[in-house]
Amino acid sequence: MAQNTQEKMKNLYIKTWGCQMNVYDSHRISDVLMPLGYVLTDTPEGADMIVLNTCHIREKATEKLFSELGRLKPHKEKRQEETGERVIMGVAGCVAQAEGDIITQRAPYVDLVFGPQTYHRLPEMVAKLTGARKKKRMIDTEFPIESKFDLLPNEHNSQGAAAFLSIQEGCDKFCTFCVVPYTRGAEYSRTIQSILDEAHKLVDNGALEINVLGQNVNAFHGVGLDGGTADLPDLLHALSEINGLKRIRYTTSHPRDMDDRLIQAHGDIKKLMPFLHLPIQSGSDKILDAMNRKHTGNHYRDIIERLKKVRPDLAMSSDIIVGFPGESDQDFEDTMQMVRDIVYASCYSFKYSARPGTPAAAMQNLVREDVKSERLTQLQALISEQQYEYNKTFMGKTIPVLFDRKGKEGGKTEGFIQGRSEYFHAIHVKGNERLIGQIVDVHVKETRPSSLSGDIVVSEYESDLKTAAS
Ligand code: 5AD
Ligand code: SF4
Repeated sequence: MAQNTQEKMKNLYIKTWGCQMNVYDSHRISDVLMPLGYVLTDTPEGADMIVLNTCHIREKATEKLFSELGRLKPHKEKRQEETGERVIMGVAGCVAQAEGDIITQRAPYVDLVFGPQTYHRLPEMVAKLTGARKKKRMIDTEFPIESKFDLLPNEHNSQGAAAFLSIQEGCDKFCTFCVVPYTRGAEYSRTIQSILDEAHKLVDNGALEINVLGQNVNAFHGVGLDGGTADLPDLLHALSEINGLKRIRYTTSHPRDMDDRLIQAHGDIKKLMPFLHLPIQSGSDKILDAMNRKHTGNHYRDIIERLKKVRPDLAMSSDIIVGFPGESDQDFEDTMQMVRDIVYASCYSFKYSARPGTPAAAMQNLVREDVKSERLTQLQALISEQQYEYNKTFMGKTIPVLFDRKGKEGGKTEGFIQGRSEYFHAIHVKGNERLIGQIVDVHVKETRPSSLSGDIVVSEYESDLKTAAS
């Protein structure tokens, strides 16, 4: 019997680019395919199905996809020869959504193209590709009326100790540089009940931390348990009641939706971690206006001030674009000043790239590439310095760390584990793999620009055991 099940098992390889929402989608794609016998593998060799889950947010996404497809094609051919069965090569995510036709024209060996809103239909698609009347190719990039969240399976492959949970998708903000409103569509929020059900499943499967996700997560407005509308603070309070769940985070927020209740939640909910990713994009009011961000630099500063009143140790993170059309030296200096004032614990920064179909792509007054590069270098130097200084303040402290994966030190993986502090530092330590999935105190002994390391603090209980044994 066991052997029969083994024979039916098929290997599924998924490569994911882009944001945490894509990581979540990849998990759910593997959940949808699990009942069909697909088991995740971390190598494309021997894979019976290959899925590339793509991101379209910045440039070169399409080129990256085609070079990866070219690299994977021989694996598909080899496996097909070995098994005599079709290996399904699929492209998912936002590039699939935006450029489905181009993909199948340029790479005719791609069997399946599906968007972020249609992967709950994968069993049907796979059946059509592998059934008796094999379809040559399937493209499904609709925005269906039914919500995938109502139709995804209840069963989950474990995401481990730190899990993602998508609660909201799409965006109605239309920042002029951004493709998201076009690739992910209009804002949609799940119901509180379905989110809580999924959160309970994740906790049952070992999650101690849940990061609730949305392109515009603080615009969340789902149906509440009482049938009325619930917002993100309502959801955070409900999640904090779940026994066994120790840590809650939410990503990614828009300054316009940081209202009083959400700010207060940072003071009231102990499980809500003291780290917030709140993109500013630019420090110049002129550029913020051209980006259609609908807030000013001072509005952003005010939010941070109010947040720090209720949670003084809150660590801040951001996204910043340099070289948006019309950005002058003074505008860039305003961005630098904003970063000096806020002091980020971490920050992502990008050179502006025109995305076809967005309003900014038609704007004049482009900033030269070399100027963009120079500004990015300056900004990144400031960010790295701030991050390093911030990390140094943890030297010698003992902090709780949630270990969620194997680590690496000097190229060696054996005996090393990795996790996150409450402030979202990456922390590497020497430690037994059995600690993965637990929150353990670490004494910080080394601080680096982008990570910390230290020693596991042996609990009194464990040292008592050791003494008793010796
Ligand atoms: N060019 C550069 N960066 C961009 N981002 C989004 N669109 C663009 C673009 N066209 C950045 C923003 C966003 C992050 C996810 O990617 O900073 O917050
Ligand atoms: Fe894009 Fe702006 Fe929406 Fe964020 S808020 S997803 S940057 S349009």
